[in-house]
Amino acid sequence: MNNQKVLILDFGGQYNQLIARRVRACHVYCEVRPWTMTLEEIRAYDPVGIIFTGGPNSVYAEHSPHPDPGVYTLGVPILGICYGCQLLAQELGGCVTAAQENSAREYGKTVTFFDAGCALFRGLPEESITWMSHGDFMAKVPEGFRLVARSEVCPTVGICDEDRKFYGVQFHPEVNHTEYGSRMLRNFLYEVCGAAGDWTMADFKQTAVDGVREKVGNGRILLALSGGVDSSVAAALLAEAVGKRLTCVFVDHGLMRKNEGDEVEAAFSRWDLNFIRVDAEERFLTHLAGVTEPEQKRKIIGEEFIRVFEAEAKKIGRVDFLAQGTIYPDVIESGAGEAAVIKSHHNVGGLPDYVDFREIIEPLRMLFKDEVRELGRELGLPEYLVTRQPFPGPGLGIRVIGELTKKKLDMVREADWIFRDEIAKAGLQDRMSQYFAALSNMRSVGVMGDGRSYDYAVVLRSVQTGDFMTADWSRIPYEVLDRVSVRIVNEVPGVNRVLYDITSKPPATVEME
Ligand code: XMP
Repeated sequence: MNNQKVLILDFGGQYNQLIARRVRACHVYCEVRPWTMTLEEIRAYDPVGIIFTGGPNSVYAEHSPHPDPGVYTLGVPILGICYGCQLLAQELGGCVTAAQENSAREYGKTVTFFDAGCALFRGLPEESITWMSHGDFMAKVPEGFRLVARSEVCPTVGICDEDRKFYGVQFHPEVNHTEYGSRMLRNFLYEVCGAAGDWTMADFKQTAVDGVREKVGNGRILLALSGGVDSSVAAALLAEAVGKRLTCVFVDHGLMRKNEGDEVEAAFSRWDLNFIRVDAEERFLTHLAGVTEPEQKRKIIGEEFIRVFEAEAKKIGRVDFLAQGTIYPDVIESGAGEAAVIKSHHNVGGLPDYVDFREIIEPLRMLFKDEVRELGRELGLPEYLVTRQPFPGPGLGIRVIGELTKKKLDMVREADWIFRDEIAKAGLQDRMSQYFAALSNMRSVGVMGDGRSYDYAVVLRSVQTGDFMTADWSRIPYEVLDRVSVRIVNEVPGVNRVLYDITSKPPATVEME
């Protein structure tokens, strides 16, 4: 890769991925690497700037993480954030101590005062809100540094040594609560590191396409296409690179949302690749007949998926590369090197055990989700595919409570489509992280026309969340819920009640299975 690179040295902070996303949003390429990187490795990476992240430790504690001290002699600008700032202070001759109760210890939004003469804060107001989360305090600033930010309780919030281009801030510029945080990071990249802003999706696309061509040569690639964003974008990229030498196997298990299978197929008709759509609905439904326990459903669906894929792969014969849509958060979360590969195997449910291939290829492993979407657009995938909300691998199979039947699947498919349609009409789709319909196995009495009904209840679910680990239910306006409810009972035979799930996660989960 010829792009300029920033190195983010990871000291265990919670927001490290966010730092990387903010940097890349400034069109500067960066990677998060462990703090244990050696000086030789850092030199070989050849960064134009280095960012030390925050972390849970105290710099003065025994066994706290410290980078190779040679990093300060490279002549490369450094920005230390929180723990990273304290590292700079302590290692370059200052002193860091535990803050006394109610003195310089700060958590949350804090009014902060800046010296706009410092390159980091150039062009920004001299007073704004920052997000703090630190219990330690820079008691003595190292020689060569000056103080460039303070708060009401803490006199040492920001430091800089402009000669050596070392900058440190106690607050977190990467989080949204810091009013001008992105601008500060941008200043560091452009004013201090002299970044050229050469990281664009069009460039990445070309580099990635060239990289795949070089790696694959005349070889053949096999990809399991689920219809989700990641595998679709991976498929589009590989199709662009090798065309006919790519085979995509799209297992349609009959548990997709309305029109989804056709949409996926249509999206790939623009490339001259081998696209195999396996209609396996009957096979899946036969294996799932009579099964009510959600974990068992998941196991059966996962197992059958592999069996179907394996059967197709066998027909194709030996392939050189098995492609996967692993993305950067999976790589970071599972650590560097070997661990990343182990996790990506899990992502496809153990496929490598069954398929005869030489190597794994993961063309998206350096991209964040929003970058994957941008690449998808760059490759010409339709908007409905690249903005698709998360959808579980087992699909509607886990959104029908109790036994699965074709009729019930059709009911939930139609109700889900109406819900999505009304949310789109109300312009709310970007305000919710995930929203869908599930079918309960509760039947109850209703009155329709002059007659009695004894039908199923559809449950609507919509959540707001950043990481899907915790989630709050969405406050959808009553008028929108009303329209959805009226349409579902009118348009979906077999449904006479619509319920809205107002439980957060925890204690519930996002899916209702
Ligand atoms: P839960 O229900 O665990 O869901 O709160 C959190 C997020 O994960 C998605 N999810 C899945 N995604 N395969 C996937 O790729 C799965 O088996 C699966 N199960 C849940 C869910 O849709 C939500 O976004």
